[in-house]
Formats: sequence, structure tokens, C-alpha cells
Amino acid sequence: MSHGDHIEAIPPGFVPLAQTETTPFAAGGDPARRWYGVQFHPEVRHTSYGREILRNFVLAVCGCPGTWQPSHFVSQAVERVQSQIGQQQAICALSGGVDSAVAALVVHQAIGERLTCVFVDNGLLRQGEAEEVIATFREHLHVPLVAVDATDEFLSALEGVTDPEDKRKIIGERFVRVFEREARRLGDVQFLVQGTLYPDVIESRAPDRARGATIKTHHNVGGLPADMRLKLVEPLRYLFKDEVRAAGVELGLPDEWVWRHPFPGPGLAVRILGAVTPQRLEIVRQADALFIHELKTANLYRACRQAFAVLLPVQSVGVMGDGRTYAATIALRAVTTEDYMTADWSRLPYEVLARVSTRIVNEVRGVNRVVYDISSKPPATIEWE
Ligand code: XMP
Repeated sequence: MSHGDHIEAIPPGFVPLAQTETTPFAAGGDPARRWYGVQFHPEVRHTSYGREILRNFVLAVCGCPGTWQPSHFVSQAVERVQSQIGQQQAICALSGGVDSAVAALVVHQAIGERLTCVFVDNGLLRQGEAEEVIATFREHLHVPLVAVDATDEFLSALEGVTDPEDKRKIIGERFVRVFEREARRLGDVQFLVQGTLYPDVIESRAPDRARGATIKTHHNVGGLPADMRLKLVEPLRYLFKDEVRAAGVELGLPDEWVWRHPFPGPGLAVRILGAVTPQRLEIVRQADALFIHELKTANLYRACRQAFAVLLPVQSVGVMGDGRTYAATIALRAVTTEDYMTADWSRLPYEVLARVSTRIVNEVRGVNRVVYDISSKPPATIEWE
């Protein structure tokens, strides 16, 4: 089907249950044994009646009672973390996103004061982000927090690096080195808590999922160095984003944190195509801040589940006043999605796009052109690198 494969013959005992113009066996089943199979992806949003198919299968065919709630996840995760960490100490890599905040709250419930959160400013954050995360965290979550400024360390490790996978691996390794240093400073810390989700694992081809292609190496999965000393604690490793948000609400995380757009660990480094320099960081930071500000003003921030600016490695000719310009291009990306595994581009109103474009070209030095990304995932991914 969308992958270009099809089933040529179904096994004995099975009967075809659905077909398309190009696929003779889109679904099949063996009613005597109550075995059913579909060739398409019922779990993705784009599949009409996908949820109903899954619901019928789980509740009617398998007879599951359907009583699972996010609160069950929290209590089970707390128990698992307690048995993994025992009486030892842990640090949590806090990024400012909902995943690491939920992971921190779960582990805090499990081991209390033996958890310290570490927030690393890697110099690749958005405008005002470090200050905002630290202030919101201190106000709402009563867990000890250490803030580390590692800007120079990350930026010098990235100097001249242009390949997306190299950037991701360098950043993943730097993060771990900083956490190892903090762990040593804090004393006898054995564990590193991360807010890794299942999509990160799927797309990075983690060791516990040997089959499947590497789409991109998420900094917190495939980007980890082999000689890492800390043991990982990942209470959300088998959850999707919508489930994490539900758990965040359950744990009392403030609304603005639960609904904050995700921001990748490698940060602006994967939103600057080509080399990462302080000047290029400043351009993408300003453009991004303007875009998000205008989305919030138009009350569209929450409806598009992720939005950001990307700095392209493209110079183009423009005219400003009476003069010729030869300057950079900003791409705007906004998507609607539930689970971040598939996504559609947001149909933002033209007036909003026009205003963002005018403001970026007028207010961000070094940019003379703005384009809007109208690709869905798949075949594109949400981030450009
Ligand atoms: P893609 O670009 O793979 O992104 O469609 C799916 C979601 O994952 C985020 N993302 C990352 N998050 N570390 C993270 O913590 C990473 O290395 C990483 N790469 C992508 C992306 O922002 C989107 O929400």
C-alpha cells in the first residue's frame, strides 16, 4: 500500500475482508481461529476509521476491558523506578519540554530527594528559553534543580559540522559528558533519568528494536556514547506524546507546560541547515520568536502542535528600498499531529503568514525571503534535519 508492498496470497483458512483498487488483501481473517490482520496502518490519524478498527479489535475481538487510565501508568512507573534505582541517587536531564518534566515527576514520586534535576543551556535554545524554564520549574516543581551553562563547550564541538547525523551524535555525546560531570560533582550518582519516548526509540533504531531503519538519531537514544558510565532510567520509553500529556495532567503539571510545543534536544542546531555559528543562531532565534509570538497573538499556538523557523543554507536576491540584497531564507514549519509519528502541515491563515513574513524580513537582519513548508510527515519529517 503506501509502502509499495502487497500480499499476493493469504494463508489457508484466511478469507479476504477488505481490498483496494491496487491491493487484493488489505485485510484478512480466519474467523474460526479469530485471527485478523490488516496491511495498512490503522494506528495513524490519516486512516479513516483506524481508531474504530483498533477499538473493535482490542475490546470486541480480544475482550480487553478498556479500563486503563494515565493514573495507572503513573503508579506502575513509580514502582518500576523504585525497583530499578533502589536506595541510590539519580539526576534527571531536564529540557523544559513535557517529556522530561513528566519523567522527573515520576522519578521524584519514586525516590524523593535522591533526585536532582540538571538543566543544560547548550547555547542552542530558543530566545529567553533558559530563563523561562528555570523560573517555571522553580515555581511549580519542587525538585532540586542545577542549571549548567555549557554554551561554549557545545558550540566549539559543533564548529564547522554540517552533516545532520554528525551534529546529533556530537550533541548527544556532549550532553552525556556534562551529566557525568554533574553526577561526579553531586557525589555518588549512578542513574541518569531521561524523558525518552517510543517514537524516539522507533526512529533512532535503538538496541531493543533491532529491526527498522534509522530515520534520524535522536540525541537521547542513538546519540549516546558507548562508554557512558551512568545507567539510564527511562520511565516513558514505551509511551507516545498524547499519553505523556495525559500523565502530565494527572501529575499536576501546569497547562502551559503540558501543551508547550516539543523542542528537540539538539535544539536550533538541527534547525540551522549547514554550519552552526553564533550569527546564524541569532537569525533563527529572532525569526522563531517572531513566528511563535504571532501564532500566540492569533490564538493558533495550541492548534498547531509544533511550529518553528528553520534557517536554510540558501542566499537569494531581493530588493529592499532602492538596493539589491543577497541574503538568507527562513522556512516556517507548522504541523498538526497527535503522536508526532505522522503529521500534516497546518493550514495557517494567509493573513498570519503574511504578517510573520513581513515582520521577519523587516526585523531580522540578514533575511530577505520567507517560505512556508507544505509537506506532511511522511514523506517529510517534522524537523528539517
Ligand atoms: P521528526 O523530525 O523525526 O520529529 O519528524 C518528531 C518529533 O521529535 C522531535 N525530535 C527530537 N526530540 N531529540 C528530541 O528530544 C531529538 O534528537 C529529536 N529529533 C526530533 C521533533 O521536534 C518532533 O517533535
